[in-house]
Amino acid sequence: MLHLAEEHGTPLFVYDEAHIRARCREAVAAFGDSVAYATKAFLCKAMASVVCEEGLSLDVSTAGELRVALSAGVPPDRLILHGNNKSEEELVMALLSGVGYIVVDSFDEIERLEKLTDPAGHLVGGPGGFRTARSQQVADLAHDHHRPKILVRVTPGIDSPTHEFVQTGQDDSKFGFGLASGAAAEAIERTRHLPGVELVGIHSHVGSQVFDLDTFCDSITVLAEFVLAADLPELCVGGGLGVGYVNSECAPSIAEWAHAIREACQKANLTERVRVSVEPGRSIVAAAAVTLYRVGTVKKLPGIRTYVAVDGGMSDNPRPVVYGSGYEAFLPRETFAPRPLRARIVGKHCESGDVLVPEAELPEDLVVGDVLATPVTGAYGYSMASNYNKVPRPPVIFVAEGKARVVVRGEHLDDLLRLDV
Ligand code: LLP
Repeated sequence: MLHLAEEHGTPLFVYDEAHIRARCREAVAAFGDSVAYATKAFLCKAMASVVCEEGLSLDVSTAGELRVALSAGVPPDRLILHGNNKSEEELVMALLSGVGYIVVDSFDEIERLEKLTDPAGHLVGGPGGFRTARSQQVADLAHDHHRPKILVRVTPGIDSPTHEFVQTGQDDSKFGFGLASGAAAEAIERTRHLPGVELVGIHSHVGSQVFDLDTFCDSITVLAEFVLAADLPELCVGGGLGVGYVNSECAPSIAEWAHAIREACQKANLTERVRVSVEPGRSIVAAAAVTLYRVGTVKKLPGIRTYVAVDGGMSDNPRPVVYGSGYEAFLPRETFAPRPLRARIVGKHCESGDVLVPEAELPEDLVVGDVLATPVTGAYGYSMASNYNKVPRPPVIFVAEGKARVVVRGEHLDDLLRLDV
């Protein structure tokens, strides 16, 4: 690992490709072809290709994620378009590229789809009509060739035990249609007869970084009743399986998650009649990566604490700041050394909140110049990275069979000027 830091510089995201493939295989063994990787966790062309080679579909939630997946050569029918506020342009792009599924999230989106797939597409330019001639093309195409499948996103009224920022199954949510309010039933009726698309089922995602398998089972119990009553053949139960970031956290495996989901489906009489699918992101990719940093300063404040500053921070991993997430840290030069030194690992950004590990345990002999690693940074790290303080985003390396390849190059200072006019 140290030679990678020498060769590519720090900070550096290092992914173990075999680990990603192993998690994909675990998911496919458990769910067959009914599993999609949630690309928001981490996406680049290499990641899309690996996941696709392993037989998963891909969930994309913006035109940007769709663009990257298509550029990687993912067959469009293996793409599922999400988003609580899909623009007309995003819907057009999805329809024209031939995505397999669109997960409908709001009545406004249903209206947009109605307009886009209306056979009387002569409204171009008129009031309430299509905004672009391209949209007209979509309507024609939808009728002539391709009918994407539709899932209606439903909030089952389940509070998942996780950080409130990533809870999504409760009634008070910006996502989907509430079951309790009757909005979900209305959305089903309105999408059932939409021309140019084919309603096949419902979708639900109760939250992210969830350890408690009962939460997934409870949501299945609620959703099963609804999907059977609506007489629909598909139910996607989303992603959300948590991972352990620190020593004290222990998450269920993908296989255990699958087992719980299968049992809940059996109990709810779903197995025979309904295709049940999942959409894991974090559990596929989080533990596949470590981030390597270089220690730049060690500041000992007597009687207060020791600050260890590294050459990255909240721009490559905003999760500690945003969700208060914990991470471990170690020195790759002595991976298994005792770690008696208590210190706060901070980044190089201009604010006190720029903390990576508030109470890290580190080897006593840590010195300036050491390479320091934080494990389990493969999900929602690079994908949430920013250029705050004009810090260039780090490169991403995939290592497989002892060989490293750069899959995303690091930004240069010139990249920081590319949008200035
Ligand atoms: N499906 C849908 C519709 C989602 O919204 C998400 C995550 C997933 C699947 C995948 O969930 P996962 O298996 O990765 O938990 N930035 C946050 C996580 C946000 C999750 C957003 N949606 C974090 O760093 O913890």
